[in-house]
Amino acid sequence: MEFNIKITKAQNSRLGEVDFENIPFGKVFSDHMFVADYKEGEWQDARIVPFGRFEMHPAAMVLHYGQAIFEGMKASKSVEGKPFFLRPEMHAKRLNNSARRMCMPEVPEALFLEGLHKLIDLDQGWIPPQKGSALYIRPYMFSMDEFIGVKPSETYRFIIFTGPVGPYYPKPVSLIADTEYVRAAVHGGTGEAKVAGNYAASLLPARLANQKGYDQVMWLDSKEFKYIQEVGTMNIFFVIDGKVATPALNGGILPGITRDTILKLLPEMGIEVEERAISIDEVVEAHAAGKLQEVFGSGTAAVIAHVSKIAYKGKDMELPPVAERKVGPAIKEHIDALRAGTIDDKHGWIVPVGEPVNA
Ligand SMILES: Cc1ncc(COP(=O)(O)O)c(C=O)c1O
Repeated sequence: MEFNIKITKAQNSRLGEVDFENIPFGKVFSDHMFVADYKEGEWQDARIVPFGRFEMHPAAMVLHYGQAIFEGMKASKSVEGKPFFLRPEMHAKRLNNSARRMCMPEVPEALFLEGLHKLIDLDQGWIPPQKGSALYIRPYMFSMDEFIGVKPSETYRFIIFTGPVGPYYPKPVSLIADTEYVRAAVHGGTGEAKVAGNYAASLLPARLANQKGYDQVMWLDSKEFKYIQEVGTMNIFFVIDGKVATPALNGGILPGITRDTILKLLPEMGIEVEERAISIDEVVEAHAAGKLQEVFGSGTAAVIAHVSKIAYKGKDMELPPVAERKVGPAIKEHIDALRAGTIDDKHGWIVPVGEPVNA
C-alpha cells in the first residue's frame, strides 16, 4: 500500500552543527519527523515536517490518563556505508501489541514502515558513519482528546523522530535484585507492553538502587519476589554450568527484539539456550557452587551489557571477569558483524533504508 506522505523539508539543516565524534546521548535531534493523526476512526494527514515543537491542550488526555506507548530502534551503516535497519517490522508489531493493551488504535504496519523508510531516507546524513554509532529512532503514540474523564481517547498522534548516538561501550553493570518494588505484574498487567507508565514506575526503585551503589535494578516477579524477570531496560541471560537460559515470557516481561535475535542465533552458533523460569535461589546456589559463569543484559541500546555483580538480600555475588566469558562476547561479535554486513544475513533481518517491505 502507498500512503500519500507529504514532505515539507527543513529550510536549513542543523547537520553541520553536529560533532559526530562527540554526541551527547538523547539530546541531538535530526532535521525532520514523521507525524500522522488519528481522527474519525482513521489515520490521516501522514506527513514529514521539520523537527520541532507542537502545541498541546492542557486537557490533552495523555497528560492525565497516560495513554502513551513507544518503541526504540536504530538505523546504522554497514562497512560499505549502506544504511539499514535491523528487523524493523518487529518494532511495528510490538508497537501495535502495546497499542492494543492501552486501548489505542493500531498503526498499520505499512504506514509505520513507509513513514520510517521515507524519514530515514531523507535524514540519512544523520546516521553517524563511525563504527558502533547509530541513528536512534523513537516511534511513539499518545492520546490527544481535550477531555477530562477516564475513557479511551478518540484522537491520537503517532510520531517518529530520530537522533544520532555515539558508540555504546557499556562498562559491566552491577545489579540489585529488588525485594520491595516490581516493574510490572506477572499476567494481566502492562509489563509486556512498551507503555510510558512502566518507565515512570521504575524511576523510584532505580534511584534507590543507585543510592545503594548499584547501576540497575534486577526485577523479580510480582507474586513471590522469587523469579527473575528482567533488568532496568534490558532482558537478561544467565550462563550456569555451561548452559544458557533466559526467563520465559510471562506477560510481565517486555519481549525484547534483541532477546529474540539472541534466542535464534545461539543454536546456530552451536550453543543451546532455554527459556524457563529462573529463580533467584537458583542463581544464589549456582554462584555458591562456582557455577554462575556469565550474566548479561540484552537490548537495542547496548546489544549486550555484561553484569559484574548481583546483590540479593544484602550480599554481593561477584561474577567472573569479562575476559573469561564466552557466550556474551560471542553473541555481541555476531550481532556486530551482522550490523557491519560482514557475515551472511540468512534470516533477512537487515533491511536497507528506502526499501520498505510492506506488510
Ligand atoms: C523494559 C525493557 N526490557 C527489555 C528491553 C529490550 O528490548 P529490545 O531488545 O527490543 O531493545 C527494553 C528496551 O526496549 C526495555 O525497555
